[in-house]
Amino acid sequence: MNITVIGTGYVGLVSGVCFAELGNRVICVDKDSGKIDTLNAGGIPIYEPGLKEMATANRLAGKLSFTTDLSGAVRQSDIIILAVGTPPLPSGEANLAYIDQAAIEIADAMNGYKIVAVKSTVPVGTNERLATLMRARTNYRFDSISLPEFLREGSAIQDTLHPDRIVIGADSQSAADTMTLLHKPLTHQIVVTDIRSAEMIKYASNAFLATKISFINEIANICEKVGADVTQVAEGMGYDRRIGPSFLNAGIGYGGSCFPKDTRALIQIAGHVDYEFKLLRSVVEVNQDQRFNVIRKLETIFEGELRGKTVAIWGLAFKPNTDDVRDSPAIEIIQHLVDNGVKVRAYDPVAMSNFQALFGKARVTWCENPLDTAQDADALCLLTEWDEFSKIDLGRLQTVLKRPILIDGRNVFNEENLLGTEFVYYSVGRPSMNQGVKQKMPVLQF
Ligand code: UDX
Repeated sequence: MNITVIGTGYVGLVSGVCFAELGNRVICVDKDSGKIDTLNAGGIPIYEPGLKEMATANRLAGKLSFTTDLSGAVRQSDIIILAVGTPPLPSGEANLAYIDQAAIEIADAMNGYKIVAVKSTVPVGTNERLATLMRARTNYRFDSISLPEFLREGSAIQDTLHPDRIVIGADSQSAADTMTLLHKPLTHQIVVTDIRSAEMIKYASNAFLATKISFINEIANICEKVGADVTQVAEGMGYDRRIGPSFLNAGIGYGGSCFPKDTRALIQIAGHVDYEFKLLRSVVEVNQDQRFNVIRKLETIFEGELRGKTVAIWGLAFKPNTDDVRDSPAIEIIQHLVDNGVKVRAYDPVAMSNFQALFGKARVTWCENPLDTAQDADALCLLTEWDEFSKIDLGRLQTVLKRPILIDGRNVFNEENLLGTEFVYYSVGRPSMNQGVKQKMPVLQF
């Protein structure tokens, strides 16, 4: 099929490359000529394992091209996929300006029947809004489709080529059939539904996953107080098929470009129809607070006196295998530390320059590798579970730190790793350890 993908952000670029990989002819469009030049020169503006190789192979095979010419691309295509950004407005609502602009430009370029599918995460009713905008400007027939995206950064190609399900929201059977045909090679699990339900499925899925994370983080906080181990609790829960094992890793909370934005947007969407989504409000609040779990531990260790201490930070990305730092817990944690007179030394294998662009270069000492970061620090905090960190020789690490204090915000290390070391070790929702010895459980009063 001939496909145009508008927007070469995470979703647009990965989808475009994967549709080409499946044998379609794909044109990726973006207004940002710098980005298009990079892509045409064989570069990739984001860090995503495997994407560059797949993009290059398909570009050289003539199945994938990049342009700033939206009209030209639309005229050559039967299916137009919108993957433009819907960044949050200050109110938390999704900003639909890019969707509206694209709808107008697509309408003006129409030269025959087309399917216009929206992959961007948009509030319920946006596809109808797009159709109304387009209908006012073109007499050509088109079908507007909701095609929500569920890929995760860091495993985007795997998620796109092997999705758990594809959701197609359509009010035209023939358009639904065409989209089903397009996605058939990927999965048998294709849910065809009405447009509004498809739009809702995306928000509901992300909100549910965020809820799982905040739930296990609260369980972790209770585990710390009663002397239980949240990883064991999560394992025990996860064998129940009704619960499932995934998204039960306790830590310092979720970040990234989707969960924080989509949870807030869904609260707004509910508010517009006079419904207060109380549960989701709490999920957001718990997540916000969880970032300070690490800070609270530092305060306990240093008896409230953080000023003048040196703290090493491992990991700045919101999760491993991405250079994305949007809404990363590291931002607020480091901000809090520097505001309170702590000398911060920080390192991330790929997200350092993005972090500096957001946070500024001053006020933090940027380091070249994990051990250099830990040099002479009073404590080390692990904020992103990059593989590189779990492979560090802890014996060596403790010799470079001023004090062997390790706060593991992602539960990367375990008792076995710490055996024979001098570390004072705190993690999330698990008993702390001192010199390789598990600390005594608190006495519980009934
Ligand atoms: C998410 C959704 O998973 C994806 O379906 C949607 O399309 C976009 O949003 P992404 O933001 O790339 O994907 O990352 P994901 O792997 O879902 O992790 C999100 C955040 O939750 C990360 O900060 C991660 O560290 C955190 N997380 C995840 C936990 O704290 N615990 C977990 O058990 C799982």
